[in-house]
Amino acid sequence: MNQITIDFNKKGSIISKYIYGHFAEHLGKCIYGGFYVGEESSIPNIRGIRIDIIKALKHIKIPVLRWPGGCFADEYHWEEGIGEKRARKKSINTHWGMVTESNEFGTHEFFDLCELINSEAYVAGNLGSGTVYEMQNWVDYISCEKGTTMSSLRKDNGRKLPWKLPFFGIGNESWACGGNMTPDYYSDLYRRYQTFVKNYPGNSVKKIACGPNNDDYNWTETLMKNSSEFMWGLSLHYYTTTNNTFSNMGEAINFSQDEYDNIIKYTYLMDEYIKKHSEIMDKYDKEKKVALVIDEWGTWYKAKLGANKRFLNQQNTIRDAISASIHFNIFHKHSDRVKMANLAQTVNVLQAVILTNGDTMIKTPTYHVFDLYKAHQDNISLPVVEKVLQHEDYPYLSSTASYNEENNIIYFSISNAHSTLSQDCQLDINNIKGIKNITGKILTGDVINAYNDSEHLERVSLSAYKDFIIEKEITLKLPPLSIITLEIKIT
Ligand code: AHR
Repeated sequence: MNQITIDFNKKGSIISKYIYGHFAEHLGKCIYGGFYVGEESSIPNIRGIRIDIIKALKHIKIPVLRWPGGCFADEYHWEEGIGEKRARKKSINTHWGMVTESNEFGTHEFFDLCELINSEAYVAGNLGSGTVYEMQNWVDYISCEKGTTMSSLRKDNGRKLPWKLPFFGIGNESWACGGNMTPDYYSDLYRRYQTFVKNYPGNSVKKIACGPNNDDYNWTETLMKNSSEFMWGLSLHYYTTTNNTFSNMGEAINFSQDEYDNIIKYTYLMDEYIKKHSEIMDKYDKEKKVALVIDEWGTWYKAKLGANKRFLNQQNTIRDAISASIHFNIFHKHSDRVKMANLAQTVNVLQAVILTNGDTMIKTPTYHVFDLYKAHQDNISLPVVEKVLQHEDYPYLSSTASYNEENNIIYFSISNAHSTLSQDCQLDINNIKGIKNITGKILTGDVINAYNDSEHLERVSLSAYKDFIIEKEITLKLPPLSIITLEIKIT
């Protein structure tokens, strides 16, 4: 039988709530036609933002939202997105489909969205094609209360008080779409640009430098060596694809068992990348002051047939949900270094938690994983030791545990990636006095490509989980293709 042991005496670091962060770019139908339908829309909205999306996102407790890109961030000029909407300058989104960018959704609308969903803001600044002056002014416009031209302009545009600006990114993928820079060149620019990202009274900005792609260890080495004293965080991007490249990508719903196995296998590369980048960071930052910020992660497939390929719209199945749960288990394991992660992307793009079809809003299987895992936010991580059945390329079971001290509850989440067989699993929790009571929730799919759409909104959704026995240890029966969270009240 599969065996998992939690040692309650070996408490680890705090699982930062920001690990459950999101990312929304001006890309395809993420902002326009996704979050934002405009005030004139027949779809119920608050100042243009869909009410059903606000409700759904509040429910899963999104702690932080990154915006406006991605690659778009390095061609975004924020002044074009403020002031009277009709008068805003139109431009072309050259990176994502050459569509017209109306600039209707800009700084005010983004902060409005954050306030509506109770999320903190992570603004990605333009280092690729913007000036230092432009970046400095944006931070001033957002976070300085009074006494500057920018703060007066903000007031003229209807917002008297400054917003909180807790996180600011300085360039995105500067090794590619953000300017095709070398690590040495970028780290010099980073030092310069970040100097002018100021802390105005009442606000303290955590600065995030553009970090590596996948296994680019040289990038991490150079950035940490040259500039680590100037950063709160260093980003890492890794997307899971069917054959671990961006060419010949597999499809989101029409896929084989082999492609399923590949996605699960390549999900585990995240563990390897975090481990190796962290080892390099440890050399320069023994006290682990610099956070590793996985500000883009998720599955990436061939874009939906018939749609603009640059819109990166894809369906989302139980396979993606299992991949998401493994990601969270990995992030928890590295919670001493990983302090933020942002799924790409929230609505209608890549591994979205929400898809929209006209006025219908669809919660994807990945949405439900965020729901299942939200209980871990800001808890103390507990180490899990797993002796579990192996597929030739990955373990079938993946788990994580955390402790909520305030409520004296252990949360345990586990996924069974086996596509046809249920698994019995014995769970031991060492060094606790006793168990008061256990409740559970489960997400499961009947086939590897089970998904939700307008006609089947609840095909993959949460239900109560009761298939466990509590004796000296806990014995669980895990259906194939399932993800479970247990809430274990202890004495
Ligand atoms: O998330 C889509 C794109 O992927 C982002 O714009 C970019 O940063 C990454 O390459």
